[in-house]
Amino acid sequence: MSTPAFDLVIRNALVATASDTFGADIGIRAGRIVQLGAALAAGAREIDAAGRVVTPGGVDAHCHLDQPMAPPARMADDFDSGTRAAACGGTTTVIPFAAQEKGQSLRAAVADYHRRAEGRAHVDYAFHLIVSDPTPQVLQQELPALIAEGYTSFKIYMTYDDLKLDDGQMLEVFDVARQHGAMAMVHAENADCIEWLTKKLEAAGRTAPRFHAHSRPMLVEREATQRAIALAELVDVPILIVHVSGREAVEQIRWARSHGLNVFAETCPQYLFLSAEDLGIDNSYMGARCVCSPPPRDKRNQEVIWRGLADGLFTVFSSDHAPFNFDSPEGKKPGGEEVAFRHIPNGIPGIETRMPLLYSEGVLGGRITLNRFVELTATNPAKAYGLHPRKGTIAVGADADLVIWDERELTLRNTQLHHNVDYTPYEGMQLNAWPAITLARGEVVWDGRDFHPRQGRGRFLACGLPSLLPRRSRNDKESHANLAD
Ligand code: URP
Ligand code: ZN
Ligand code: ZN
Repeated sequence: MSTPAFDLVIRNALVATASDTFGADIGIRAGRIVQLGAALAAGAREIDAAGRVVTPGGVDAHCHLDQPMAPPARMADDFDSGTRAAACGGTTTVIPFAAQEKGQSLRAAVADYHRRAEGRAHVDYAFHLIVSDPTPQVLQQELPALIAEGYTSFKIYMTYDDLKLDDGQMLEVFDVARQHGAMAMVHAENADCIEWLTKKLEAAGRTAPRFHAHSRPMLVEREATQRAIALAELVDVPILIVHVSGREAVEQIRWARSHGLNVFAETCPQYLFLSAEDLGIDNSYMGARCVCSPPPRDKRNQEVIWRGLADGLFTVFSSDHAPFNFDSPEGKKPGGEEVAFRHIPNGIPGIETRMPLLYSEGVLGGRITLNRFVELTATNPAKAYGLHPRKGTIAVGADADLVIWDERELTLRNTQLHHNVDYTPYEGMQLNAWPAITLARGEVVWDGRDFHPRQGRGRFLACGLPSLLPRRSRNDKESHANLAD
């Protein structure tokens, strides 16, 4: 008997990429897509996808897994449980953060993070860096060397005492990104405004979780977004503003785009499906479950975010999965106590629900096209962080990371999820789709009912340079950074 032409053939798929939707069989060999077409030859294994949409596996370009925290906080998901949940929700590549502590070398942060990931992940992973201490050694040696080795994106913070950079430091980091073609990601909130408001709220005894939102109004995000844009313009470097939550930041990004600046933007499910009310309408501590930064805004703001997803303002849609148990001394109740909002660990879980929520409410709800869904959840994040075309698309030569969708009604329950967190903020939501099958490099990792574990299946991916833009596309001669001209 002759050897089958393929290890696996997905028959009769309705293939969706960022640009096209077409019917095809997908032939897979050695974990890669090797042929797309009608009536492919037999595979050693076959899956009939008749009547089903098949998209690229998701690339979750903003999630936090096993990130070291100041005690007593501890993340509930590590690379095992976090990538398990990712796979069951249709995500086949994750990019969490190797975070530099102040005083630590970036190299040491990366080495520590590799130890946490090694042999534990079920899907492929890359690392962003978090630069919190941009010393001359970091700027001149470590960062350029790490970029060359495949760590081509780094996040900087404008808030949080242990992470924030001042404007001068931001300029220095942006300049390294510019010189080496890396992607700078910015958490844009004004730290001093937050501190001032927090102290006022505390003095008035307003410390319940819902006051977290009062301490971080849209203005503080707007101001920081505007400043980050100006600093990036000065250096003449593209930037990506992460977890954009509100209409005022959106207005700043629209302004930047209309002036020809390369400002990219990310948003997350919490700004579509949660509102400030989820932090509590009374002083209940239950609202701690939805404490994240920036906080969810008013309900009308959700429409602004939907519009930005539909019209191209947003480049990527990520989970910002930051997993803390609610009922835990390591999570939302530090040391077992119900604490003032300032001490509640920031972040909510969402790595498994990101793709089904957007498919269900966005695509099936008629708010975005299927192709835009693919662009936001897979193709653009792969391009932004130098993983495309190996990741984020369905094409010959790409990894066979695929989701076969099941369009059916379901009620979301935390008991059905695969993360290690004791709640989902989306408990009880009615959805109309969930992955029927997730394939990671040609292996079934989720079959609609069961997860198929193989710790260590996930491999580290060294990233190339971002490919969202042609390099040096704008105003080279006019750049303020070109002082010699
Ligand atoms: O509240 C959030 N988003 N926590 C995660 C850390 C971050 O800033 O993304
Ligand atoms: Zn952030
Ligand atoms: Zn985050």
